[in-house]
Amino acid sequence: MAARRLFVTTALPYANGSFHIGHFMEYIQADIWVRFQRMRGHEVHFVCADDAHGAPIMLKAQAEGIAPEALVARIAAERPRYLQGFLISFDHWHSTHSPENTELSQSIYRALKANGLIDTREIEQFFDPVKGMFLPDRYIKGECPKCGAQDQYGDACEACGAVYSPTELRNPRSTLSGATPVLRSSEHFFFRLSDPRCVDFLRDWTQSGRLQPEVANKAREWLDGERGLGDWDISRDEPYFGIPIPDAPGKYFYVWLDAPIGYLASLKHHFDSGGAARLTPQGFEAFLADPTVEQYHFIGKDIIYFHTLFWPAMLKFSGRKVPDNIFVHGFITVSGDKMSKSRGTGISPLRYLDIGMNPEWLRYYIAAKLNPHVEDIDFNPDDFIARVNADLVGKYVNIASRASNFVTRFFDGHLADVSAMPAWTELDAAAVSGQIAQCYEGRDFGRALRLAMEFADRINQAFDAARPWELAKDDSRRAELQAVCSLCLAGFQALTVWLKPVLPALAVQAERFLGSGPLGWDDAQRAPSVVGKYQHLTTRVDPRLLEALISPDAPAVADKPAAASGKPAGKSAAAKTAPGEAAAGSSAATPKAAGNAQADGVIGIDEFSRVDLRVARIVAAETVEGSDKLLRLTLDCGEPQTRTVFSGIRSAYAPEQLVGRLTVMVANLAPRKMKFGVSQGMVLAAGWDDPARGGGIHLLDPQAGAEPGMRIR
Ligand code: MSP
Ligand code: ZN
Repeated sequence: MAARRLFVTTALPYANGSFHIGHFMEYIQADIWVRFQRMRGHEVHFVCADDAHGAPIMLKAQAEGIAPEALVARIAAERPRYLQGFLISFDHWHSTHSPENTELSQSIYRALKANGLIDTREIEQFFDPVKGMFLPDRYIKGECPKCGAQDQYGDACEACGAVYSPTELRNPRSTLSGATPVLRSSEHFFFRLSDPRCVDFLRDWTQSGRLQPEVANKAREWLDGERGLGDWDISRDEPYFGIPIPDAPGKYFYVWLDAPIGYLASLKHHFDSGGAARLTPQGFEAFLADPTVEQYHFIGKDIIYFHTLFWPAMLKFSGRKVPDNIFVHGFITVSGDKMSKSRGTGISPLRYLDIGMNPEWLRYYIAAKLNPHVEDIDFNPDDFIARVNADLVGKYVNIASRASNFVTRFFDGHLADVSAMPAWTELDAAAVSGQIAQCYEGRDFGRALRLAMEFADRINQAFDAARPWELAKDDSRRAELQAVCSLCLAGFQALTVWLKPVLPALAVQAERFLGSGPLGWDDAQRAPSVVGKYQHLTTRVDPRLLEALISPDAPAVADKPAAASGKPAGKSAAAKTAPGEAAAGSSAATPKAAGNAQADGVIGIDEFSRVDLRVARIVAAETVEGSDKLLRLTLDCGEPQTRTVFSGIRSAYAPEQLVGRLTVMVANLAPRKMKFGVSQGMVLAAGWDDPARGGGIHLLDPQAGAEPGMRIR
């Protein structure tokens, strides 16, 4: 089969908040699919980005007294740690607030306009006279026009369910200033979706059998509903954080216009920066327009409208290629509770990693629950423990540990040839492999894993039936013992291949044991001839970890290092920040973190573990013009990119003394904009609180052998 060429994205998360579990459910789903495709030898370009624009981000930044760019940068800075933490293999992560996106959005708009699909109309909207801005519906509250309930949002009543427009609210007020909004008119730009060309195209595109049936039905309801497709208001008046509309001073694109174009912007940056060159000589535009390239977007069920109507129409009528499909998933709930986007309830993926839970457990658990339908899935702690322990430890890993025991003891790692064994023929790995591949392709991951586990059951049964512990006692039956162990390990290799899209890190360990190098899909039908010494592959889930994950106040697991001591720290802590940096640290501390601290200054292990301390190597150090306190350090923290940190240690060190040294840094400190540039973290140094006491400043120094990126805990 010729290699397929794939362009794959996940929805771009809003840049005004940290990742939540819903994001990772989506990334894990898409990542498994992408890794499967790569294992099959296909060419995949898998990208995402921050969705940076819009009123909520602008207003949140305003409330914090910072520029929206700074808010977006702060959120962006914490992303890589979690994406890497959950083994999500994006090729590139970009931002919609980027030159690429500005250029693409404006050019797509110009093309739509040239195609006669942009209209302008005067519309009347509520305006906050105090804030001096038009108010999005969610920033207007008042009494429901139908039932009179107080304190209802501008679009719908939570008490009686009525849907209305904000101008119908009684006693409306702006939630931003409390002022009574006034009606004001202004000119808006509309994408004429009601144009027969659009309607015809969309009916065709949504009903041609590509979409999931439930998604196609939704689209049909929208297309054929009483009101048909409405034109789409794509402009917002200043002040707005967005992309300017060409030739329209004071007007910006509504965030949902430039957001999906961000998929293309991210891909463009990936191509333009050489990231795709390993796989294709094509440039960005050529690749994007290439009819052999398939384009897929993974999204959640709440944004179907944007992706099945607006997005294909925007592409089509600006003369571009349209997506091949949109893959829609349901929502993840936690123990049956709807997880709120805005409240960020449920389990935190950040905390999940911070307390040391294995990312592959979550990948496996989510995969086991996913199917190709738009169904919600529930995270249930007991179910999580049972599933991971039973399948991963009890079935899969167990096979390797049981068989390798005998193989090491009696056969020095050497295995018998299974290809002619009837038992191996009966297992029919080739057929199972084909079925599992079909399941992955069709995003039926739950079924793929069930098939794999049934296979594991059969292997374990064959092993038990052969009673190897008895064979081992009888010198004359060595060949039988070797045969059954070899069969098991051939099965283990097949399982490793089938689980690899879900468990990529475990697969690397298993590959080392199997001495196989990176396994491709077809290696499921090959068997190892020699195995190495078995190394412990994974652990059972400790229920205490789930307690720590679920209840925010639960103590972290007791046997974690340093968890036990509750002794108050002395006044003058051993390590403190260097003077120039103390300000960076304290001003970045969030009110929430401060609120967590007890009155006596004692913190729990949880609060401490929120500080991400890492080993870093100083790869460059320079003086900073205009500052006699600071040095500009370039740090290798084990991430793809280096970080710049300004540190107030100039009085203690000459730059050349520092280059090449290891030190300790705070990796999750909010980036801080300084006069000289942005500081992306902080290095730790010892010194007295009162500089008059002397004693100097001393950078912390990990012992030799530590490597950049290692976590300090
Ligand atoms: N910024 C928009 C998407 C723009 S795409 C051009 C957005 N952002 S989001 O952060 O709110 O959501 C990002 C993705 O997460 C969406 O696909 C959304 O459906 C998904 N999820 C949000 N909450 C979810 C769950 N509870 N469960 C699963 N996915 C969920 O929408
Ligand atoms: Zn009501």
